[in-house]
Amino acid sequence: MTSTDKYLAELKQWLADTADEPLEDMAAFFTKRLSDYEKHMAIWEKSYQNLAESLPVWCKNILDLGCGTGLELDKIWNLNPDIAVTGVDLCQGMLDKLSEKHSQRKLTTVCQDYFRYDFGKNIWDAVISFESLHHFLPEPKKELYQRIYQSIKEGGVFLLGDYTACCEEEEALLRGAYLEKRKRFGIAEGSFVHFDIPLTIEHESDLLKNAGFTIEKIWDAPDEATLLIARKTKRKGK
Ligand SMILES: C[S@@+](CC[C@H](N)C(=O)[O-])C[C@H]1O[C@@H](n2cnc3c(N)ncnc32)[C@H](O)[C@@H]1O
Repeated sequence: MTSTDKYLAELKQWLADTADEPLEDMAAFFTKRLSDYEKHMAIWEKSYQNLAESLPVWCKNILDLGCGTGLELDKIWNLNPDIAVTGVDLCQGMLDKLSEKHSQRKLTTVCQDYFRYDFGKNIWDAVISFESLHHFLPEPKKELYQRIYQSIKEGGVFLLGDYTACCEEEEALLRGAYLEKRKRFGIAEGSFVHFDIPLTIEHESDLLKNAGFTIEKIWDAPDEATLLIARKTKRKGK
């Protein structure tokens, strides 16, 4: 049995064991876990650092989608305390913690759904998102990535650090379970619930390329979050 076979067998068992567990509302899920959230996410320490070090050195402003308590921002401001950040998150409790930690920084927090928030056009040196977008289906992400692309200045980057599926089978298993649970528990369309539905690196990259990005680099080390560095390249002749 390969390690992927073993992983998929365990995943199938977990899905069977948890089939009757209801889905939790997204913001309520994170509010409930706020007290030990940062301890729980400490496993991504290296990935937060990697994301921070992957920002262009000239970066002056950032839009962080699903910023939470700002674990990626802790690392970014360590390297460059002058960067101005707008952090968008659904969960006010997470944003309050971020503001408490970083009252000295150039920080604007927005408690809103990033699928609805107006990112503006050509204003960000970088847009970042860490461990947030694996909760969504490809269709809404397609439009989101186009809006992210439009909001970034030419030459700027979108850094996407996230959990990716190891193969199409994992992607299909989780998506199937998610759709089945939404139906079974009568979750209204447009309501956000906490359940992981990661895409494979290939599918995530395709969505980014379709939005206009050039994929400059993909970090995919074991035990780290995948980091996709997607650039809005300068048009020739400009
Ligand atoms: C696992 S946490 C990651 C937080 C932070 N980036 C980090 O790595 O510590 C995911 C965050 O995404 C936020 N989130 C999920 N869906 C969102 C949406 N549609 N709009 C805004 N924030 C969202 C959640 O509220 C949560 O704070």
